[in-house]
Amino acid sequence: MSSTLLAAPGENLTAFDILLWVALPYASIATFLVGHYWRYRYDKFGWTTRSSQLYENRLLRLGSPLFHYGILLVIVGHIVGLLIPEDWTESVGISDSVYHACSAGLGIVAGVATLAGAAILIYRRRTTGPVFSATTGNDKIMYVLLIGTLLLGFGTTVFNNANNHPHHYRETVSPWFRSILSFRPDTDLILAAPLGFQLHVIAAWLLFAFWPFTRLVHVFSLPIGYLTRPYIVYRSRDRELGSRPEPRGWERIR
Ligand code: HEM
Repeated sequence: MSSTLLAAPGENLTAFDILLWVALPYASIATFLVGHYWRYRYDKFGWTTRSSQLYENRLLRLGSPLFHYGILLVIVGHIVGLLIPEDWTESVGISDSVYHACSAGLGIVAGVATLAGAAILIYRRRTTGPVFSATTGNDKIMYVLLIGTLLLGFGTTVFNNANNHPHHYRETVSPWFRSILSFRPDTDLILAAPLGFQLHVIAAWLLFAFWPFTRLVHVFSLPIGYLTRPYIVYRSRDRELGSRPEPRGWERIR
């Protein structure tokens, strides 16, 4: 075939494609990593959820676990769907149709829980006076990016699975995502995905870039030190058990 008819991979990319599918992902990853380092170095005391539990507890007790357990399931789904290549799941006997049925089922349960939790938390934030007063401009931008990413991801999943010929994102979005992580971006792959998937991914990169400057830093506050910290040492107040003599001036009042 003539070489003029066959475009080499990446040959037809515009500057805008490179901006969206190469520059944006790397700028976002760099800002995410350096931003967290900077925030930890210079704003250790601001590394907090800025909890509003003191102001309102009833709605928080319902919305918060729904949102957090839902998003944990969403994260597990993304790790499996984006990082595990299709031929790996096929080689252990999971057919494409079984994979898609499980991913759609779990994805929709996870998405509904996350969005329902988020709806309760936002309703609470808007209607509880002191919680609303404690909401900053930064929080509002964060909520728009977070909810935008969630709605675009969930909407895409629902529409895609309602379609008779669903798009196989494990042949486009997932290998593209891995090509970014391996520093060999293959932009043709993401350009082959439907618009809904592309918008979801752009929203996610914007969210990741803004993340280190928001309350979302609390995600990286696991009490890992608990695993290695010394046990709490209990000392008896019983005088007879202590072997050291009482220092002068510190004698017990009897
Ligand atoms: C660059 C990073 C990301 C990529 C490449 C990506 C890719 C995808 C893809 C391909 C799907 C469709 C799955 C399906 O149809 O079964 C999806 C669904 C979804 N995504 Fe993402 N995503 C990213 C980041 C995020 C983030 C940061 C969030 C949350 C804030 C999120 C929330 C969702 C939700 C809620 C769904 C619906 C399915 C579910 O509930 O798990 N995504 N995403």
